[in-house]
Amino acid sequence: MSDIKKIKEDFILKLKENLNLNQVNEIKTELFGKNGLISSQFKKLGTISENERKNFAADLNFVKNELQNLIIKKIKVIEINEINQKLEKEKIDITLPERSFSYGKIHPVSQVIDEISSIFSEIGFSVEEGPDIENEYNNFTALNTPDNHPARDMHDTFYLDDRKELLLRTHTSPVQIRTMIKEKPPFKIIAPGRTYRSDSDQTHAPMFHQVEGLHIDKNINMGHLKGCLNHFIKEFFEIDKIKMRFRPSHFPFTEPSAEVDIGYKMKDGKIEIGDGDQWLEILGCGMVHPNVLKNVKIDSKNYQGYAFGIGIDRLAMLKYGINDLRAFFDCDYRWLNHFGFDPLDVPSNYRGLSR
Ligand code: PHE
Repeated sequence: MSDIKKIKEDFILKLKENLNLNQVNEIKTELFGKNGLISSQFKKLGTISENERKNFAADLNFVKNELQNLIIKKIKVIEINEINQKLEKEKIDITLPERSFSYGKIHPVSQVIDEISSIFSEIGFSVEEGPDIENEYNNFTALNTPDNHPARDMHDTFYLDDRKELLLRTHTSPVQIRTMIKEKPPFKIIAPGRTYRSDSDQTHAPMFHQVEGLHIDKNINMGHLKGCLNHFIKEFFEIDKIKMRFRPSHFPFTEPSAEVDIGYKMKDGKIEIGDGDQWLEILGCGMVHPNVLKNVKIDSKNYQGYAFGIGIDRLAMLKYGINDLRAFFDCDYRWLNHFGFDPLDVPSNYRGLSR
């Protein structure tokens, strides 16, 4: 038997065995590697006499192709087997009980911040943020708050150093300053966030939430402020009419200043917002004081506007019937499960604010 025929028969037999991928690759090298059996046969060609060479080359090529094809087929079979084995092992057991999972709820305060942002963004306000740790200048001085103002008192403000330079912001109003220093007028922003005061009872917590509003442009007057707040309160409580009153007040950073009350009545033990002869204070506001504008280098002869600060927690309590503010910050999982909102149900003006 010629060498070529022997190689062919030997390897056809070998390839019939039960082999893995490595073993097939070894056979491939044994035959077709640099010094492989078939490769060596090709090297012989030069030493063979001319009349034998043609037949030898034809036989050799034939065997080479045959073995190569066998190897390719064998590899395919092995791969398919591997996949089948894997599939066999990975069968889904539908009799297994499902894996338990839990999903969170959106805190009512976060929900209300989203609702407020949605309402104001519809009428052209953008959302700004500022840090909880503020400096004394942004929180008080730039806001025209004199040194002897009671709000600066240690009893009210959490100072973070002896020199009283750093503090936990007592309101969101410093974001007005940050925004006006950073950019050029006009401004139309809201700034929701955490605020801190040394206070604690059923309706006051040392940490609470406010949303600041600031609108500065040419020819902005108190009518714009009233219109804006009126629109907001109606949208927020999802009612057509709202009784509202502006009570004269004092804030160092606005002149004139007012506090806004909304009308309500009690019906079947529940509070109904919009009408009635009871009043509830929900926000402070006013026309931005010229000194504040001066502090941020805005010419108050050209530009003026209004600002407001709304207590978010109070609004959330009113809208969702929560009667103790402290529950907001107790982190009681059962409470959150009851009062929380679906994370996939984001409030928007189009689909409705609350469900
Ligand atoms: N910063 C004030 C407060 O915390 C509210 C306010 C904001 C009043 C803006 C007027 C203008 O009570």
